[in-house]
Amino acid sequence: MNGPNLNLLGIREPEIYGTTTLAEIEQRLELVGAELGVTLLFSQFNDEGRMLDAIHNCRGVVQGAIVNAAAWTHTSLALRDAFLGVKLPYVEVHLSNIFAREPERRHSWLAPGAIGIIAGLGADGYELALRGIVRALRAAEAAAASD
Ligand code: DQA
Repeated sequence: MNGPNLNLLGIREPEIYGTTTLAEIEQRLELVGAELGVTLLFSQFNDEGRMLDAIHNCRGVVQGAIVNAAAWTHTSLALRDAFLGVKLPYVEVHLSNIFAREPERRHSWLAPGAIGIIAGLGADGYELALRGIVRALRAAEAAAASD
């Protein structure tokens, strides 16, 4: 799930976000998803209410999310509440290292609820997040089964 302005990847401030487009990131994730045996859904929102609705609609249908909430990372407690509200585990991704940027980008409202965070590794961060969340969810499933 991608937040605002990430539809502009490829042309948007390439010195910060790189030249890979969102479509190219999704193509790469499709390949990794097939390798891992998981089905993926892709989304991008420029309207926070629509992203909240989409998170709610994941309830009972989707097992985990990879989220780059973009600028809403730094402003929205509602997104974290939505993920926690429908018990949707998530890994937070940022192309840039938000902790090394302007002060207003160094705080994430999503981070306290995340399984983990990947920031600063560019488009590769999405693939690493996918591998990480699948591993974490499978480990949790195995632990629950052996209880
Ligand atoms: C971003 C970092 C945010 O601060 C920014 O608002 C974005 C992209 C990233 O992927 O590095 O839109 O989430």
